[in-house]
Amino acid sequence: MNNYNWTEKNKELIWVDDDTLNITSTIIDRHIENGDGKKLAYIFESDDKEVIQLTYKDLFEKSNQSANLLKKYVVNKGDRVFLFLPRIPDLYINFLGVLKAGAIAGTMFSAFGADALKDRLSNSGAKIVFTTKELSERILAVKSELPELQHIFIIDDEEYIKEFASQKKEFSPVPTRSEDYAFMLYTSGTTGKPKGIVHAHAALVQQIETAKYVLDLKEGDMYWCTADPGWVTGIVYGILTPLALGVTSFVHTGRFEPDLWYSFVEKYKISVWYTAPTAIRMMMAKGDELVKKHDFSKLRYLASVGEPLNPEAIEWSQKVFEGKYFHDTWWQTETGSIMIANTPDLPLKIGSMGKPLPWVDAEIIDDEGNPVPPDTEGNLAILPPWPSIMRTVWQNQEKYSSYFLKNWYISGDRAKKDTDGYFWFIGRADDVIKTSGERVGPFEVESALVEYEGVIEAGVIGKPDEIRGEIIKAFVVLKPGVTPSEELKTKLQEHVKHHLAGHAYPREIEFIDKLPKTRSGKIMRRILKAKELGQDIGDTSTLEEY
Ligand code: WTA
Repeated sequence: MNNYNWTEKNKELIWVDDDTLNITSTIIDRHIENGDGKKLAYIFESDDKEVIQLTYKDLFEKSNQSANLLKKYVVNKGDRVFLFLPRIPDLYINFLGVLKAGAIAGTMFSAFGADALKDRLSNSGAKIVFTTKELSERILAVKSELPELQHIFIIDDEEYIKEFASQKKEFSPVPTRSEDYAFMLYTSGTTGKPKGIVHAHAALVQQIETAKYVLDLKEGDMYWCTADPGWVTGIVYGILTPLALGVTSFVHTGRFEPDLWYSFVEKYKISVWYTAPTAIRMMMAKGDELVKKHDFSKLRYLASVGEPLNPEAIEWSQKVFEGKYFHDTWWQTETGSIMIANTPDLPLKIGSMGKPLPWVDAEIIDDEGNPVPPDTEGNLAILPPWPSIMRTVWQNQEKYSSYFLKNWYISGDRAKKDTDGYFWFIGRADDVIKTSGERVGPFEVESALVEYEGVIEAGVIGKPDEIRGEIIKAFVVLKPGVTPSEELKTKLQEHVKHHLAGHAYPREIEFIDKLPKTRSGKIMRRILKAKELGQDIGDTSTLEEY
């Protein structure tokens, strides 16, 4: 293990020197004790231009009310409480309330459909879910299949609002231990349903250290992390670390639109901006003229995460933001914090993800777990443990164990390391799709497609796309007698949007007669992809048909 002194760091950053740690004490309550309650924690702006501001004191009091409400409904340490909310104050307040109550907070994108919700709420055995009237309908559609779900808190319901308001504004965070679980996120792999990646309170020290060291976050910053808390970036770098460091965060409640985003950077005097390559490429596609209409003089530091950051996007940012450019950062839901990055002081090698952080032992290894020479492709692996690594995969020890080979944690990414120690991303070792930065499992999409009448089977791949990194493409086999048509494609797309998620539908559908399969009947997505890209389909000796 890397001998970085996390015990000392804990004293410096977390302000505790024993094992009792509820991170909400560090990220919220401490600011109040220090007399900084008046400081702004969040500024929200919605698409209809409504602005809401929350000070640290507001967040402190409201998260206490939330925790009191949860206690009233008998939420105990370790219970799972989920948030199915758009990026509105209630999401942030109740996320903290759940942690204060000692429970495990789970987040879900508001784009999720009923099936995606059912999988997550059922697997986690969630007791309570916070949502809005509008979104609640999707949960109600599957409620009968969720025996452990006891209450649905509807945050825009009159009764709920009254009950919340009547809760006391004082609460002492439940004294969790540092190894107790704080939050969980469902994330996709190649096979099966999404898995619940679980993080402990103890992760905070490394998360704060990376926010300082990689994102250059400092007190007094106006910070904008564009990620939704349904994604790990939105939790770690959108809630936990900016609060811990006492900065003010901006949150845009609405949809992505380049002109609007520029105007936010200008209006809110954003100094640190953390976003994703797809957003950068969408801005790029709108042209330079739009950028010139805005004032970016307060912008100090730009960073990006989630998918490969192409050299053109970096060069473009250098050109339009007066020499400032997006710094690539690499990490995963499972790693809990940034692992490899272009840090502020690291000379840029354009197209590289940068170097492992000083406390990270990263290596490129072969399939047997042995390091390979520089400039050789292999598996990107990291030597555990580290404070922010996932603690378990919810009720799936087998999946958890599958991440480890010899002494290594295997990321599932293929990469190279050059002779200077810079890491270069190559691709996924499996079939996981990254579309607009979102991680989508082909199996989930295939399952949603085959639920549709008239579909026998489906094979789903990620197809390279200039803006979105990848788009989802589905190959669909129809039942005899069902006629392929453009109209049917649209219906299938709507079906997936509705059942799975607004962002996880196939933008391209192709009807085919049969899917390439192994002798054991597994769909060979690799073959579908090679064919799609006009590449050599490689060794097909194990195939039944193709
Ligand atoms: C991909 C994101 C290239 C990678 C915080 C990884 C990246 C997966 C980068 C994790 C990057 C993330 N360059 N690819 N800088 N950052 N990825 O769990 O394939 O949603 O394994 O977490 O995103 O996705 P996740």
